[in-house]
Amino acid sequence: MSEKRQLKLGAFIMATGHHVSAWRHPASQADAGHNIDHYKDLAQTAERGKFDLVFVADSPAGWERAKDPEALRRSSQGAHFEPITLWAALSQVTSHIGFVATASTTYEDPYLLARKFASLDHISKGRAAWNVVTTGADVSKNFSIPGHPAHADRYERAEEFVDLVKGLWDSYEDDAFVRDKASGVYLDPDKIHQLNHQGKFFTVSGPLNVARPVQGYPVIVQAGASEPGRELAARTAEMIFTANQTLEDAQEFYSDVKGRLGRYGRSTNELLISPGIFPVLGGTEKEAQEEYDYIQSLIHPSIAWTILERQYKGIDLSGYSLDDRAPPLPQNTELNKSRLKLVTDLVERNNLTLRQLYLAVAGARGHRTVVGTPEQVADAIQDWFDNGAADAFNIMPPILPTGLSDFVDQVVPILQRRGIFRTEYEGQTLRENLGLLRPANGLALPALQRKAV
Ligand SMILES: Cc1cc2nc3c(=O)[nH]c(=O)nc-3n(C[C@H](O)[C@H](O)[C@H](O)COP(=O)(O)O)c2cc1C
Repeated sequence: MSEKRQLKLGAFIMATGHHVSAWRHPASQADAGHNIDHYKDLAQTAERGKFDLVFVADSPAGWERAKDPEALRRSSQGAHFEPITLWAALSQVTSHIGFVATASTTYEDPYLLARKFASLDHISKGRAAWNVVTTGADVSKNFSIPGHPAHADRYERAEEFVDLVKGLWDSYEDDAFVRDKASGVYLDPDKIHQLNHQGKFFTVSGPLNVARPVQGYPVIVQAGASEPGRELAARTAEMIFTANQTLEDAQEFYSDVKGRLGRYGRSTNELLISPGIFPVLGGTEKEAQEEYDYIQSLIHPSIAWTILERQYKGIDLSGYSLDDRAPPLPQNTELNKSRLKLVTDLVERNNLTLRQLYLAVAGARGHRTVVGTPEQVADAIQDWFDNGAADAFNIMPPILPTGLSDFVDQVVPILQRRGIFRTEYEGQTLRENLGLLRPANGLALPALQRKAV
């Protein structure tokens, strides 16, 4: 009997939970953003549930602060650990789970970033992944540059950045370090490669000062869904994080992105598609709904208006009340194009009021919300998995730590009983568990060819 296709799971962690008011919930850890024991507990819980990976979203500088002083006083946003440092620590108290760290191609330096991720991959024994983001939020004021680059420019830089980083990871062949004490030979100079990159944005000679990562390259994740975002993913990424509301949208995204792979000589199983899901669990449907209503009731009105102002950047909402129909959203943005489209579709499809709009995005921020029993949440996952919309899911617990431990204890066993999710890890590295091949060294190959001439 052939084995069923296997689902992959990521624990998408926001310090106190994904809901904007999670920190006020009795079950949340209010100081979570700076509490290493909290994150340690989460990583170990996700590993107990045989998750493939844990992931934290990140920005190189604080997210945009609320303008209203009342909202600022009540917002838990933007204070948490830097991901690579955090994951390096947590890799030492786990053995199989993968660690996805977000890092920006707009604000980071490629050499330094290649070095940090290569180190994380060695420290974690092959469990590192890089979530390549171009950074939607304008944080330019903290980085001595004149302004936030335009969307198209950010993606052009990202294309060169990713190629360059991969090239630096190929600086050493896997067996370059001989370290033979008897002969006194430490390394084989023929197996060191100088990249000599000269491009539009970067001039970098190499080699890197870290050996080739355990996985060849840390797994490349990408999380932009605009036209250039999809193209970058199709050419370079091995997993794509996405936000979709409906099965039809998710199917469109899935087939569109998979359809682009052939152009880059890649097959459809070389890129895993992972939408987010925000599960609100209860013993019964009624209990789940009551819990959801309770979480939503924790949103202070000043926070509600801040959420709306973020959606309506540049549009004055002062003449509106929360029960008015939501006016049209801005037509365009240089920040997060795909999220603007998603929220516009959400408003238009459901004819939302402003109140319904802020409630719809206060938790899942545009990702799919499922309120129900563990069986219903498992059904929601399997539906998209079986119907050409997902290879994996990012589980986005509303409240932490309970939202993750409840999912592990209540939903994972159902997925396992259905035969679509592992009961044991298949391998040691993140690549092995995700079923992704270890990439060949792109610089070693030309060197071999040169020798043969
Ligand atoms: C699940 C998910 C996670 C994301 N995480 C981050 C993040 O941590 N940092 C960030 O700057 N952007 C993050 N993004 C945003 C995207 O990387 C991207 O910047 C955004 O979607 C805008 O690009 P686009 O217009 O191509 O979609 C995330 C998006 C998704 C769907």
